[in-house]
Formats: sequence, structure tokens, C-alpha cells
Amino acid sequence: MRIKIEKLDNFGRGICYVNNKICFVENALPNEEVEIEIIKENSKYIEANTKKIYVESPIRTEEDCIYSNLCGGCNLNHICYNEENKFKKEKLKDLIKKYAHINPDIIEKIEYHDRNHYRNKIILHGNKESLGLYKKNSNEIIPIQECLLVNPKINEIIKILQKEENEIEEALIKTSNDNSKIMVSIKGKVVNQKELENSCNVLKINNDFITKEQEIETTIGNIKYIESIHSFFQVNNTLTKELYDEVLNSIKDKHYKKALDLYCGTGTIGIYISHYVDRILGVDSNESNIKDANHNKVLNNIKNIEFIQSKVEDRINEFKDIDLIIVDPPRAGLDEKTRKYLKQISPKTIIYVSCDPVTLSRDLNELQEAYDIKKIKPFNMFPRTYHCESITILERR
Ligand SMILES: C[S@@+](CC[C@H](N)C(=O)[O-])C[C@H]1O[C@@H](n2cnc3c(N)ncnc32)[C@H](O)[C@@H]1O
Repeated sequence: MRIKIEKLDNFGRGICYVNNKICFVENALPNEEVEIEIIKENSKYIEANTKKIYVESPIRTEEDCIYSNLCGGCNLNHICYNEENKFKKEKLKDLIKKYAHINPDIIEKIEYHDRNHYRNKIILHGNKESLGLYKKNSNEIIPIQECLLVNPKINEIIKILQKEENEIEEALIKTSNDNSKIMVSIKGKVVNQKELENSCNVLKINNDFITKEQEIETTIGNIKYIESIHSFFQVNNTLTKELYDEVLNSIKDKHYKKALDLYCGTGTIGIYISHYVDRILGVDSNESNIKDANHNKVLNNIKNIEFIQSKVEDRINEFKDIDLIIVDPPRAGLDEKTRKYLKQISPKTIIYVSCDPVTLSRDLNELQEAYDIKKIKPFNMFPRTYHCESITILERR
């Protein structure tokens, strides 16, 4: 069926209508005329693939990844980078207008850096025959020799792991934010262990560390950070400093007395801003993160920060006399209890670092009852994918 695409949905899929029913088309761009193949239909919507492009959009770019449309990693390989950045800014505008009734003109310029090789982390899945990434919406493994998103050092490790006799169930590979160090954790059997050991700083196979080093040290700006293999770290090596600088610049002249860094990971943001706030408390539910956070505090000789390992929602009712709260939740955003207590604690400023504009919009809609939205700035931390990071500054009315 030949059809014209009208616009993009939030996942970067083309939207058209078949017999008045909405149809989401993979790999199709606005104003393109394409042949579609329907792969799923129910009473509400249709999903389709692009079989042939009759009229091509000027914003389409050559798909330079050999695994494009095979692995489930990237969905915007076919849009030129400028347009990808525009798409993310527009998506954020649409969502905050639709779900939080915020004037979309508040959205500032989107920050972005490299489209390729920005990621410092990949997880490969394997079985006896192959090692690679999952095919879109399936558990089928697409064997890969390299990934365009990741640091070239990670690609060197992938090649080593692809030795035929290896039987790897899962491989986690990470580089440090300054690209100088590499960590590998393997579940399974590796026959070329020595070669692998010589190519990385930290190697863990099943439950055992093979290398003497068990963590890596890295830097963001002037701050040193320890990172363990299973701890959280921002994945974009080229833009994390800008993200943290945005938080820093928005608070450094305000002299806050007591701050919370909620969903603090390894304490990275709290430590980054610690010279500008009297006291900070970081909260994260992950044991490895909090262990690294305490290590990072000592490493940087920071005396005014404490960390607790807990779910935010289990402790949020205990915090009082706070004038700054930074939240950086996972994609699910803030839970109902946390939203309620944020309003009750009533800090002067809330800084919301978000990786999902949908849950951000839901949460801002509620927080606006007591807060003015002063600024929303998008960051393209995940080029070639539909995901969009942003920072929102809220001031108590
Ligand atoms: C997007 S990361 C942010 C980490 C950190 N701010 C950074 O920049 O590296 C989200 C963090 O939330 C933590 N987390 C997830 N659910 C949580 C919860 N219910 N309570 C506390 N922490 C949680 C995860 O362990 C993860 O470290």
C-alpha cells in the first residue's frame, strides 16, 4: 500500500492513517510517500514497516550503520543530525504543552555534541552460537563486530570477545568518562582470557575479578570519580560535563544551606556542586552506587556531603528544612508519594534532571501547583535514539 507520512510520533516513527485508523511506520519520515507492510493491527492502531520509498524526504540521511533496522539500539539512524535535534526539542515542547500546559516557548536551545562514539557502555547478549545485540522487539541475537554509538575502545574489546570458541552469556563493557580506562564483566566462558586481560583495566569473569584493579578512576571537570563495573554512570562521555555545569551554574550564586541530591547514583552531581552549598544529602537505592559515592567523597576530600542507601520514597517524608532539591530519577519519573512530599518539604528551588519528557511533563504538571517553571533546557545525551534528557529549574512561588 502506497501512503503519505504526515508527521513523527514520540518514538520517531512516521504517522499516517489507513482507513481513518492511526498507523505507526518504522523508518518513514514526514512528507515521504512509502510502500508499507502492516505487521500488527488492533482496534485502535496499526504498526507497519517501510517496504519501499517512492518520494524521499530531504531530511533523510544515509544509514551508515551496518546493523541499522536490525538491532534494537537506534531508531533515528535515517534522520540527519540537525533534524534529530529539532525533533527532540519539538517533542519536549509538545509534551510539556499537552500534559503540563506550559508555554512551549520556555524550552531553550538543545545542547548536543558527537553523533557517534559518544557512549561509554554497552551490554552484549550471547548464546553458544553468537554474541551481539537483541533484534528489535525480540530475543534473537544480531551478532555485531562494532557499534557506531560506543567509544572505539569498546569496539576493540567486542572484536576480542567475538572469538569463535568463547561461550558468553552476557558481556558488559564500560569506558571511563575521560576515555582512558576500560572495564569488562563477562558471564560465561572465555578462551582468550589473557588477550582480554591485557586489553582492559578491570576484568571480571562470572563472580571473580581477574585483574587486581576492581574499579576505575575518571574525571568530570575538576572532580575525580571512582566507578565500579555495576554502578550507574551517565553514558554520554561528550556531554555529561555540560549537563552538570548547567546544574552548577543555576545554583552557584544562590547560597543554599541544605540540599538533597535524590537518585544520586555515585554522588556525581552532589559532589560537583558541593563547594556552593552548605550541606548535601544524597539518596540512591543501589548499594554499589552508594559505596562509590562514599569513596568519591573521600577521594575529593569533601566534608559537607552524606549519602544514604534507600529508595527515595521510603525516606522522603523524613526530610525537613531543605532549600534545594535535585532529582534525577529513572525513566519512570517521580512516584506519587515523592511528588507529594516534594511539595510538603517546599524547598526554594527544585532542579529536575529528566531522561523522559513524558514522565517529566506529568510531574511538572503537579509541581506547578506551588512552583514556577523558570527554565527547561534539553540535552541530546542519546544521539540516534528517540530519548531526550533535559534540566528544568523550578522556583517556589
Ligand atoms: C538517571 S540515574 C541518576 C544518577 C546520577 N544523578 C548521575 O548523574 O549519575 C537514576 C538513579 O536512580 C537510582 N534509583 C532508581 N530508583 C530509585 C528509587 N526508587 N530510589 C532511589 N534511587 C533510585 C538508580 O540506582 C540510579 O542511580
